[in-house]
Amino acid sequence: MDTFEAIKKRRSVKSFDINHKMTRDEITKILESAILSPTSYNIQNWRFVIVTSQEIKDKISELSHGQKQVSEASLVIVLCGDLNSWDKNPERYWKNIPEEPRSMLVDSLRNSYRDKPQMQRDEAMRSCGMAAQTIMLAAKSMGYDTCPMKGFDYDKVGKLINLPDDHIIVMMVVVGKASKQAPPRGGQLPLSEISFKNHF
Ligand SMILES: Cc1cc2nc3c(=O)[nH]c(=O)nc-3n(C[C@H](O)[C@H](O)[C@H](O)COP(=O)(O)O)c2cc1C
Repeated sequence: MDTFEAIKKRRSVKSFDINHKMTRDEITKILESAILSPTSYNIQNWRFVIVTSQEIKDKISELSHGQKQVSEASLVIVLCGDLNSWDKNPERYWKNIPEEPRSMLVDSLRNSYRDKPQMQRDEAMRSCGMAAQTIMLAAKSMGYDTCPMKGFDYDKVGKLINLPDDHIIVMMVVVGKASKQAPPRGGQLPLSEISFKNHF
């Protein structure tokens, strides 16, 4: 599917065929696309928890005010950010480049995030937001639909997935075979309201 077609056709779908199972290869293809999303300093601070167990999907649905797309979707991806990825052997984020520029980049990366909890959190949000859109467009291109989600109990879902202490959950994306299409779009704002020439 053409990129523009995938962008136009991606919608937040709320009803999925509960019996549809995605293959391991399909799930891998989506994740392999997700990890090509850009991250600042190539920090790759996203962590993806892939939930296919019906029991766990049902529990997450309960923790999502009963939103049924969570139970019905083939896959629930919990997008998490590792707040300390800047300090976890960051040389590997630049392993393919020569040593000198690599050590400069790593120094700069460490200085950007050390003792800056707000920046660490912001970076998790930025990276996971990018990855979420990649996941949704990749899934759409493969004939699947998705729903991005923040309407759930973050603490309880964190406990359920054994979220490490230095990670945060950013959002979820559910993926599956749509059983009902989304209603017409709510209404996009005109470009004249949301875009500005050179400055506000
Ligand atoms: C960060 C984020 C969180 C969202 N959380 C939910 C959610 O919890 N439940 C839900 O049904 N839709 C959720 N949505 C979907 C939005 O309602 C939807 O994207 C918006 O209405 C625009 O519709 P569209 O995605 O079909 O273009 C979320 C979307 C985003 C980007």
